[in-house]
Amino acid sequence: MKKRLLSVLLCSAMVAAMAVGCGGGSSDSGSSDEGGSDSGSSDVITIGFSQVGAESDWRTANSESMQDTFSEENGYNLIFDDAQQKQENQITAIRNFINQEVDYILLAPVTETGWDTVLQEAYDADIPVIIVDRMVEVSNDDLYTTWIGTDSLLEGRKAAEWLNAYATAKGWAPEDLHIVDIQGTIGSTAQIGRTQGLEEGVEKYGWDLLAQQTGEFTQAKGQEVMESLLKQYDNINVVYCENDNEAFGAIDAIEAAGKTVGTDIEAGEILVISFDTTNAGLTDVLNGKIVCDVECNPLHGPRAEALIQALENGEEVEKLNYVDEEIFAFDNTVESVTAVNSLDEEGEYAVTPITQEIIDGRAY
Ligand code: AHR
Repeated sequence: MKKRLLSVLLCSAMVAAMAVGCGGGSSDSGSSDEGGSDSGSSDVITIGFSQVGAESDWRTANSESMQDTFSEENGYNLIFDDAQQKQENQITAIRNFINQEVDYILLAPVTETGWDTVLQEAYDADIPVIIVDRMVEVSNDDLYTTWIGTDSLLEGRKAAEWLNAYATAKGWAPEDLHIVDIQGTIGSTAQIGRTQGLEEGVEKYGWDLLAQQTGEFTQAKGQEVMESLLKQYDNINVVYCENDNEAFGAIDAIEAAGKTVGTDIEAGEILVISFDTTNAGLTDVLNGKIVCDVECNPLHGPRAEALIQALENGEEVEKLNYVDEEIFAFDNTVESVTAVNSLDEEGEYAVTPITQEIIDGRAY
């Protein structure tokens, strides 16, 4: 397959609308029909996809979305590599993709830094690189063609504003909120943004942030960290988990310690906040174990395909393509929150009380 070097410029409104508009949260079906695949052409597009790993329910949904979209029947030859959460595996995979002369490289990077050398190699080989999900921090932004993913800082700010509004409505004094933060993989965009959102809330509202420790986005580590935090602090009443799987682990640890999760912190319950809104996460919201869950939508397959098809057609694409996302809560105490996104735009975001019907209608 001949390499398809495409001269990629910034900002085409048309492609921006296509890529960002497909964000639409829960109504996104993940169907590979949405992006308009290359099936009409005899030219198969070869894609090397370096996936972070399989650390969470979110990641599984993301891998499935990519595999369903970049299927043979849609006109693609997908080379999928699971890096098992290790950057060195991702670098090796990218080098293999370059040797195989793939048409596009898709990279879901484990952390933001450390990509300059290998992305320069892809650039020198004239292979367009599309970053998916988390971001990369590189010395020269030309080293990747475009990015599609979530606004993690906005997610963190939404969660913090929700907590402030909820605490205010309940009459809880800020200094009486004793919070632990089970962080994601340190140095990943999802961790950096969500941690920053919480820290800004602490600064702004005066909450008591007891501890921050990574749970590496996994259930096992989330449980281990929570067990240890419960031994160190006897006054924890809010757990801010940076993804659903950490929340599952933290809830297990809390219950194993003879404590209860819920909203009645005055009666000793521990309030759990989470991110992702996976099926199991929202089920925990429905039964009151997680009180607020901020969406991080994993269905990037059709979005990445829309970008690739635009590039195939010689169109310009936006450099950064943020996905629209929702907020779900156990009850209707907070109806909406106001938060500023990574582009410094202030917005008001509805908080939807979860129902079984909503969960059943979602694609992941
Ligand atoms: O980068 C997205 C994050 O990675 C999701 O929140 C988490 O579940 C995943 O592992």
